[in-house]
Amino acid sequence: MVPMNDLRNPHHGDLPADLELVLKVIPQPRDCNANGDIFGGWVMAQVDLAGSVIPARYARGRMATVAVKEFIFKQPVRVGDILSFYGALERVGRTSVTVRIEVFAERFADQGRYIKVTEATLTYVAIDAQGRPRPLPPQQAS
Ligand SMILES: CC(C)(COP(=O)(O)OP(=O)(O)OC[C@H]1O[C@@H](n2cnc3c(N)ncnc32)[C@H](O)[C@@H]1OP(=O)(O)O)[C@@H](O)C(=O)NCCC(=O)NCCS
Repeated sequence: MVPMNDLRNPHHGDLPADLELVLKVIPQPRDCNANGDIFGGWVMAQVDLAGSVIPARYARGRMATVAVKEFIFKQPVRVGDILSFYGALERVGRTSVTVRIEVFAERFADQGRYIKVTEATLTYVAIDAQGRPRPLPPQQAS
């Protein structure tokens, strides 16, 4: 994994080989604040979506985000950037799954160079029809 300090270095080089690409998205003008910069909250929503991809394989049904640990934004996200969301499984519990998400931007005019813009650790809980935690179903052999 790329250390958080690398958020200060916009040209850190390679993408993480140990993480899985779970989402790619290009922010649009509607995702901006009045200054023309992308809302941090929009990025956070995309991270929540990206974070759900791996846990969905374990929950196999309804689930909810119970916790998100620390967003830090050290590099801006701009309209037209190509954002890549990489994920890795951190923990499978009785009812919950925790993943780590790292987000990289390719500037529209400088593709192929990846700038880490944020990262977060998220926990999702499998829930039943009443919204209560339910045990994760037995995992199928891959
Ligand atoms: C998700 C929810 C059903 C969990 O119910 P709960 O009674 O709070 O949870 P529990 O204490 O029984 O814990 C359930 C699991 O969540 C984990 N968990 C609970 N709080 C956590 C936290 N702050 N950080 C990380 N994991 C946490 C527990 O470790 C447990 O995992 P495990 O069974 O794998 O060990 C409930 O908190 C809820 O409905 N929250 C709102 C969810 C939501 O609306 N999310 C979107 C927000 S906009």
